[in-house]
Amino acid sequence: MILFKDVGFEYEPGQPVLQNINLELEPGQVVGLMGENGAGKTTLVKHINGLLKPTTGAVYVNNIDTRDTSTAQLAKTVGFVFQNADHQLFADTLQAEVAFGLRNLGFSKEEVDNRVAQYLELFGLTRYGGQSPFLLSGGERKRLALASVLCVEPKVLILDEPTQAQDALQKAKLLNFIDSFRDPEHILLLVTHDVEFAIRAVDRLIILSNGQLIADGSPNQILSTPRLLDRARLLPPQLTQFAHQMAKQFPQFPTNVTTLDETIEAVNQLLRGRR
Ligand SMILES: Nc1ncnc2c1ncn2[C@@H]1O[C@H](COP(=O)(O)OP(=O)(O)OP(=O)(O)O)[C@@H](O)[C@H]1O
Ligand SMILES: [Mg+2]
Repeated sequence: MILFKDVGFEYEPGQPVLQNINLELEPGQVVGLMGENGAGKTTLVKHINGLLKPTTGAVYVNNIDTRDTSTAQLAKTVGFVFQNADHQLFADTLQAEVAFGLRNLGFSKEEVDNRVAQYLELFGLTRYGGQSPFLLSGGERKRLALASVLCVEPKVLILDEPTQAQDALQKAKLLNFIDSFRDPEHILLLVTHDVEFAIRAVDRLIILSNGQLIADGSPNQILSTPRLLDRARLLPPQLTQFAHQMAKQFPQFPTNVTTLDETIEAVNQLLRGRR
């Protein structure tokens, strides 16, 4: 379990970036974290792998205070894929990049080779295995960063903007991966501005605005609340916008729909009522 207790953080003294954060993330959950640019999302998630330590309050990962442990120690439990993949990649080849973390954690050569092949394949990168990561496209580099973190199979996974620069096929694959990662032992925290992706990927959604948590609940409930979306500078899902348009003409049309199934059900109800 991950626990933020009264966490405050400042990079510069007197300029708080996070304030009064209380948050509990339990295994079995895929949680989305959304909020405007500069809200403090990346700053918040960097506290989970100990890259940043709270200025006030405390962060616990499986009951261990992050101030009492190293990032290297936390890396066994917490996988972190950076917003900018270039901050993460350093090896000469894709194979070496994926192998690095596995070797560090002491996997046998055979297991390293197996997992390198498995994870390059999973992210559609097998054919570039022997080449430099810096020859890859932006979207491919992002996927390599994912492969190199996921291959150690961490119990806690943090993805900072994973859909950035990904085409529709890669987003669909990422969604499949997230669904397969959902497990009673795993926690996945997904930072994103991608409303349509969040609806399909997450079980719980948290909104951070100007360094403070302003909402925590079901994606459906939050993404259909205009006030919260305004604060986080997000546009409602297209289907919610459609529902609001429909409700102008048919006041009984529900405006809290976010998914295709809910929309079809609402339209069917409307049609049944009019027959
Ligand atoms: N290393 C740093 N030193 C000083 N200030 C920083 C540092 N990193 C971030 N900040 C500031 O902290 C605030 C929060 O930044 P953060 O990167 O956490 O936002 P974010 O919610 O992830 O934004 P985005 O959606 O753009 O990724 C911003 O005002 C930013 O300028
Ligand atoms: Mg960020």
